[in-house]
Amino acid sequence: MTGDVSILSNLWYMAGLSSSLKRGQLRRIMLCGEPVLLARKVTGEAFVLRDICPHRAAPLSAGRFKNGHVECPYHGWQFRGDGVCAHIPSVLQDQDIVPERIRVDSYPLKEQDGLLWVFMAADPKNPRPTLEPPRIPIARADGAARPRFIESQIFPCEVDHAVVGLMDPAHGPFVHRAWWWRTEGSVHAKAKRHIPSERGFTMVGHKPSSNSFAYRILGGDLTTEIRFELPGLRFEHIKAGKREVLGFTAVTPQDKDHTLVTQVFYWTMPALGLLRPLLAPFVRTFVGQDRKIVELQNEGLKFSPPQMLIQDADVPAIWYHRLKKAWADSVATGTPFANPVQERVLRWRS
Ligand code: FES
Ligand SMILES: [Fe+2]
Repeated sequence: MTGDVSILSNLWYMAGLSSSLKRGQLRRIMLCGEPVLLARKVTGEAFVLRDICPHRAAPLSAGRFKNGHVECPYHGWQFRGDGVCAHIPSVLQDQDIVPERIRVDSYPLKEQDGLLWVFMAADPKNPRPTLEPPRIPIARADGAARPRFIESQIFPCEVDHAVVGLMDPAHGPFVHRAWWWRTEGSVHAKAKRHIPSERGFTMVGHKPSSNSFAYRILGGDLTTEIRFELPGLRFEHIKAGKREVLGFTAVTPQDKDHTLVTQVFYWTMPALGLLRPLLAPFVRTFVGQDRKIVELQNEGLKFSPPQMLIQDADVPAIWYHRLKKAWADSVATGTPFANPVQERVLRWRS
């Protein structure tokens, strides 16, 4: 992560679904340019280590669980969940090597709302989180917000193109042209009030485009609010009376050429569960449309052309870059983060 200014530190990154990490599993992922081991003990407790053995660099993820520790596949060194070495099999009792003085970097992990959040610290040797991972802002019937529906795709690009594509209000009628979402004929002028919010900005509650069929099937008197938050998190909160749907999108950098885009839906409407099989192909298509335009865009980006950001449709992208810079500055200088976004009505056609 060090040396890569395009990836922010001292933030929580959404690394996957809790349910995707089984008991007794060791899983390697790439996160913010680092090889990372996600592990869950048979007892259920999960932890995260750097996936490079401090002895001679073998990936710990290729090892196994032994006595509740992670055993390296090369020489069998064992590591605890906090990264401390617990055992070196080759050492004799009268040899003065203290395994506990050896450790592999560990990353703070939080599991909430069915998601795995990993904190990427500016100082990996001292990874103390200075904030909490965001909650999924939906009413909780049983104390927990449960993911009801998930779609994940890897975009072949660095994180900024995926984030900017996500918040871009002008691409809808072109990239997502479909009878069930937007058509060319449905394009009209829009004016939406935006306000600064925690580490980002919010398009305040408004009635969604009545031209959208997908919104119409939810029925009734709808409002929707869309909030963006660093590093690349988007919360789309749709309310129809007491019924709520929360579309959560996490854009998570794997390395400089790959970004994981995860779309998770939460809802308080049991009836929507019945729609799940219908929803699946729509969401897959929708996320796939965003992925395909990024693949196309790469054909141009190969030649490092200049790019433009215009008023007002590209203002969210401008804000994103300003937010990133403000966050990076606050981490570098140790001063409080100052949100650079000013309240503003953005106007565009889409
Ligand atoms: S490389 Fe891991 S124990 Fe030797
Ligand atoms: Fe899109």
